[in-house]
Amino acid sequence: MNRKPYVYITRKLPEQIVNKIKSFANVGMWEWEDKPVPRSVLLEESRKADALFTMLSDPIDEEIYTDAKKLKVVANLAVGYDNIDINGATRRGIAVCHTPDILTETTADLAFSLIMMVARRLGEAIEYVKKGKWTSWSPLLLAGADVHHKTLGIVGMGKIGEAVARRASGFQMNVLYNNRHRKLEAEKQLAVEYRPFEALIEESDFVLCLTPLTEETRNLFTYDVFKKMKKTAYFINVGRGRVVVEKDLIRALQEGEIAGAGLDVFENEPIGADHPLLKFPNVVALPHIGSASMETRLAMMDRSVENIKRVLDGKRPISIVNP
Ligand code: DGY
Repeated sequence: MNRKPYVYITRKLPEQIVNKIKSFANVGMWEWEDKPVPRSVLLEESRKADALFTMLSDPIDEEIYTDAKKLKVVANLAVGYDNIDINGATRRGIAVCHTPDILTETTADLAFSLIMMVARRLGEAIEYVKKGKWTSWSPLLLAGADVHHKTLGIVGMGKIGEAVARRASGFQMNVLYNNRHRKLEAEKQLAVEYRPFEALIEESDFVLCLTPLTEETRNLFTYDVFKKMKKTAYFINVGRGRVVVEKDLIRALQEGEIAGAGLDVFENEPIGADHPLLKFPNVVALPHIGSASMETRLAMMDRSVENIKRVLDGKRPISIVNP
């Protein structure tokens, strides 16, 4: 009789999801929702596992692969997969899967929320009321910047970028984009205009970073880039923290080179309450919740389950990353 495969899940997931995996595999799971699996446990479990159901906070690298003789699939609960050594997996015939598409609209909602939050100073406004500082209506109280009719520059024009552009058109924004390849269809359909990186940085009122983390994009946003932005412009990051040289962003904010920042991602996550970026009133910081709606996270989990099942059944997964 065939051995039942073993799937290790690196974070506590809802029972309904775990039960789906139990229908075709034995399951091991790290039983904490808010604590990443310790490296030693992950190494130990990888040795036994046919499949790993991973989070973006789990580095999956050569050390893991070396002893993971049975491993056939790594299914990452994210569209991004910069935590995974893809070449190493491919060399060993291990499929790496992710969860694109299903999180597009939810992440675009969050990106647009950050644009609204920084421009209209909503974080400051909420604190103002909560701290009992609101004593009267006053003409310039918490006056921010308009979003409508402004120029939005999207760096990294994938599906999420296009979904943000659709939202921006409802605000009658002028949308520019920069991407490795021109997106001619999007230009036609969404009335977005291509700009070289520098031109986009100089023209935009909101620079929205949605690039994945790759060798090309690592440290893309330096002090020089922030200095080229309008002093009235905002920087929004919903991609990956390491695309930004964080100390340069801090310097640009200190020197008033930009008007503010909305950040869902950071160089090193999670950040503590003493992080220097949190000292700026014009910075909105979120705990990497781009795709975090209940519907979307459950759909992402389902996608990972399906990807794992397909690989273990010898079929092609729905969303595979390996070339
Ligand atoms: C992703 O899917 O890569 C996001 O960063 C998770 O919210």
